[in-house]
Amino acid sequence: MTLRTIESLGPLAGKRVVVRCDLNVPLQDGVITDDGRVRASAPTLEALTGQGARVIVISHLGRPDGAPDPKYSLAPVAARLDELIERPVAFATDTVGTDAAAKVEALADGEVLVLENLRFNPGETSKNEAERTAFAGELAAFADAVVSDGFGVVHRKQASVYELEQLRPSAAGLLIAAEVDVLDRLTESPERPYTVVLGGSKVSDKLGVIEHLLPRVDALLIGGGMLFTFLAAQGHRVGSSLLEADQIDTVNGYLADARQRGVDILLPTDVVVAASFSADADHVVTAADAIEETPFAASGLGLDIGPDTAAAFAERIRNSRTVFWNGPMGVFELAPFAAGTRAVAEALTEVDGLSVVGGGDSAAAVRQLGFGDDRFDHISTGGGASLEFLEGKKLPGLEVLGWQ
Ligand code: 3PG
Repeated sequence: MTLRTIESLGPLAGKRVVVRCDLNVPLQDGVITDDGRVRASAPTLEALTGQGARVIVISHLGRPDGAPDPKYSLAPVAARLDELIERPVAFATDTVGTDAAAKVEALADGEVLVLENLRFNPGETSKNEAERTAFAGELAAFADAVVSDGFGVVHRKQASVYELEQLRPSAAGLLIAAEVDVLDRLTESPERPYTVVLGGSKVSDKLGVIEHLLPRVDALLIGGGMLFTFLAAQGHRVGSSLLEADQIDTVNGYLADARQRGVDILLPTDVVVAASFSADADHVVTAADAIEETPFAASGLGLDIGPDTAAAFAERIRNSRTVFWNGPMGVFELAPFAAGTRAVAEALTEVDGLSVVGGGDSAAAVRQLGFGDDRFDHISTGGGASLEFLEGKKLPGLEVLGWQ
């Protein structure tokens, strides 16, 4: 079954439409450092206001504890949305309280109202279905129809993602439709060669996706903090680099499985090792099997893939027809350890075929390193959600919109 579309909701002029977005953006001292999710949400909001709907935007931000916390207010996000879209954007200082109710009541056709952070209410993330349904009911009271467009949160069974959609006529927004379209192409019929690049700190976060992808891909490239567990599995010493010792057996299993299937797992042949975790730390490039032979001996920290590895990864990526990348290759936030991530990003822009950047850290990395969004075929707004989709898991926020 396919996702229900906005058109299936019928004419929406004059109707109050609650739109579940994922406006969970990184903030530093109240300033948005990557507004990708706000920009990605705009087309659906424009489409709805364009037909005269009264649009009520709901979202979470961060992980507050079910109670108001100014640090996680959506106010700066509403202000950014106001700059981005043509229509005026109002903001309610609560989610389902008196301010929200008054402002929903005052909303005119084609106007937008953002409600305060959903997770200031314990019902949003409650493990108890009745509590979630009760909170969803309070949100539904504002809505004639619901449009779900927060792709980044579809893997969560939460009140606004799952229960709300069952209480009113509901459909997928344009962002969810576009995300699912691309990720479905990766799962169903990827053009070959198909290469997946995985980075980020933990192997344990990527277990499901590695297992699910091994039978489907031609090559798996491993970088980021998780590479050290792969090196350790090969019997190398990794100094003080990130290591998940309890995953070594699992990783050995993947390496054996890949050999049997004829899938290439490319591991780094060289790495950048530093004396400490800081931008001005002494650092050297060393062979991946000689990490403890640097001047820093066993206290050396591997913080990026080395230049030979970056070149080999880039070549493999450029020669692929489909590439999915999730997770930075190194500590890209610190300039001396950003080269591996930059090389992978650059290579993705040269793919003759489909290039997809998985959300979260990799999306932030490409933007921070100055790559425009239009240089990739698709930058997913979902980190965990895109991984779980590729793992073949059932995602509650998609199932409730008709996806199977
Ligand atoms: C994300 O950033 O991955 C989504 O917004 C989901 O957030 P969560 O992991 O706090 O549920």
